[in-house]
Amino acid sequence: MMTQYQEKAVVIRREQLSADNVRLTFECPDIAAAAYPGQFVMIRVGTGNDPLLRRPFSIHQAHKEGLLQVYFKIVGRGTEMLAEVGEGAEVSILGPLGRGFRLVESPACLVGGGLGIAPLLFLARELSRLQRDCGLDTVILGGRSRSEVEPLVKDFEQFGMTVVTTTDDGSYGQRGFVTAAFSSLSLPASCAVYCCGPEPMMAGMNVLCRARGNSCQVSVESVMACGMGACLGCSKPTRGGGYVHVCVDGPVFDAEEMVWNI
Ligand SMILES: Cc1cc2nc3c(=O)[nH]c(=O)nc-3n(C[C@H](O)[C@H](O)[C@H](O)COP(=O)(O)OP(=O)(O)OC[C@H]3O[C@@H](n4cnc5c(N)ncnc54)[C@H](O)[C@@H]3O)c2cc1C
Ligand code: FES
Repeated sequence: MMTQYQEKAVVIRREQLSADNVRLTFECPDIAAAAYPGQFVMIRVGTGNDPLLRRPFSIHQAHKEGLLQVYFKIVGRGTEMLAEVGEGAEVSILGPLGRGFRLVESPACLVGGGLGIAPLLFLARELSRLQRDCGLDTVILGGRSRSEVEPLVKDFEQFGMTVVTTTDDGSYGQRGFVTAAFSSLSLPASCAVYCCGPEPMMAGMNVLCRARGNSCQVSVESVMACGMGACLGCSKPTRGGGYVHVCVDGPVFDAEEMVWNI
């Protein structure tokens, strides 16, 4: 049983990476020290009971020295409120939650679409620390346009990754989807693929990885109320005919374990 903490975390840095995308760095020692790539936290975005429910966010980066980052897009009231939190403010964070990525001792290809890039940075750092005889790892970062992708490129390059970028509108990197960029790479079948993004993208990655013989782990999203297995609101069907709870059984699963409705 993993230990979880509820901490009053102080915002020590706020970065507006694009018009809608914000990165917050918290002083959050217990959660940061216990965190593992692919896990998430639940953040209380307001004071009191408005909004009532905490919001789930992937752990973007965590340092044993106590710093924890989340990277998010403003999509509604909760994320709007979180984006307004200033440096020095305190926020209640619960975590680390869920099961993260299984780190495989082989070459890695990380594939992130839109805000699905968020959990891959922590993963990139931990992979760079793993003793593997595999040469360079690759990360494919995709987004709608330049502002969703460009601000994160250097963050991945610092871990020695070859960065490939794609945008839907062609404003940065290759025009098109990350799946097309992945198809054009010649990667060995031993390459482990780690993926997070919109469902159609992960469904596509599942098909491509199966055809090429690559293992593929995906970080899945679902609407979450409790984040701890208590409300049963986050269940998803599996190919075996059962159900999993994204918050406690995931959010990371083997892609071929899941049902893809696309
Ligand atoms: C495990 C997990 C990790 C996540 N990590 C990140 C992250 O790193 N960065 C990030 O930007 N977002 C992440 N999300 C999504 C994030 O939790 C939602 O965007 C957020 O809760 C929306 O809150 P809101 O109050 O602003 O929007 P709301 O007003 O609640 O909803 C606005 C819109 O967002 C949609 N939405 C709400 N909750 C979710 C959800 N859980 N998943 C998908 N769509 C949702 C709603 O359907 C609606 O269309 C993650 C979700 C999960 C489950
Ligand atoms: S969010 Fe409540 S059980 Fe998963």
